[in-house]
Amino acid sequence: MKSRFPIFSHFPDLVFLDSAASAQKPKVVLDAVREVYEKKYANIHRGLYALSLEATRLFDEAREKISNFFGVEKNEIVFTKNGTEAANLFISSFSEKFLQSGDEVIITVADHHANFVPWLRIGEQRKVILKFVEPNSKGVFSPDNFTKAVSPKTKIVAFPHVSNVTGQIFPVQEIVKMAKKNRAKTFLDICQSAPHFPINLSKLGVDAAFFTGHKMGAPSGTGGLFVKKELLEEIPPFLLGGDMVDTVSQKGFTMLRSPQKFEAGTPAIAEIIGLGITCDFLNGIGLQKIRDHEKELLKYALQLFEKELPNFHILGTKDVEMRSGLISCIHPKIHPHDIAQFLDTKNICVRSGLHCAEPIHQFLNLKNGSVRASFWMYNEKEDVEKLVEGLKEAENLFARE
Ligand code: ALA
Repeated sequence: MKSRFPIFSHFPDLVFLDSAASAQKPKVVLDAVREVYEKKYANIHRGLYALSLEATRLFDEAREKISNFFGVEKNEIVFTKNGTEAANLFISSFSEKFLQSGDEVIITVADHHANFVPWLRIGEQRKVILKFVEPNSKGVFSPDNFTKAVSPKTKIVAFPHVSNVTGQIFPVQEIVKMAKKNRAKTFLDICQSAPHFPINLSKLGVDAAFFTGHKMGAPSGTGGLFVKKELLEEIPPFLLGGDMVDTVSQKGFTMLRSPQKFEAGTPAIAEIIGLGITCDFLNGIGLQKIRDHEKELLKYALQLFEKELPNFHILGTKDVEMRSGLISCIHPKIHPHDIAQFLDTKNICVRSGLHCAEPIHQFLNLKNGSVRASFWMYNEKEDVEKLVEGLKEAENLFARE
């Protein structure tokens, strides 16, 4: 699989275990983006000449591919520059339309900052009550944790599909059912699940969700928001300007229909076309195959940790059915940054610190954060072995008894 990702031919010794932060890019995607810039590039929705019409067609086709990828309708996908922008768009627009003082919003302490910080501001600005769902002491969430928080005053429940710290896969359908019983909407962060297993947002039943392209192997500068069409028609736009208006005069403006109403300005045209090609690529590999592969790596890593690294503590559940392909760990005597810098001397890339998810680390009492190794389709058992070997050496260096 590594042969399909050019970075590994340039750096054959690279042990890349940081795909949860951003994934490497397949050659087909890089080629497609280059081809757009070299042969098919012009602004979209604006030109009446063939080059612009072709760029527009490819851009529209990308929306079709991405909506199919997530099992939703084409016009339910709004493009943004990343997951954070998509989350801000939805949180701001939804709140403007639906939230009033005294309403309740449920979020979790495992949400990463994109689905946490904007809610904090809404809480302050609109005097909305934020309720934070917490896990058990091991960092594991169950539907019961949500049951306690949801009430008839709840307007929306925002939560991650996969925690980017513990790797837990959340019981989405059960949470959606609970929210629906209380007439609350649901907003799902799929940034950490989108390229790791099959996702059908219609079947999951959520009202809205956001994703980022760069973690799926697509170019950075791409991402998007799914919102059920009835809801999308109801909420106001976030950015105003060209390409989202129908008519403009000194008296005011009228807007285009969704999703264009939410896509002011020139988008990342070639990159979004690249995101569509990424979906083709992922479908060609098979999402279930990717999941099975990651599960194997996860099982192997958990076994090796238990055998070889007894002093390292893994965050979250050890049940591989309940977790996605990443492992965050801590050593009681070594700072996570020391470990990550040491691993870098062995060409092993991991993330250390808070992973843009400070509240879950606070909940687990880990002020320095953790070390996170995250897997994707191009990782092999050998990468896991090198990681474990590197961690052993780091322990010998920094925490020799
Ligand atoms: N939120 C990203 C991560 O988990 C950047 O590392």
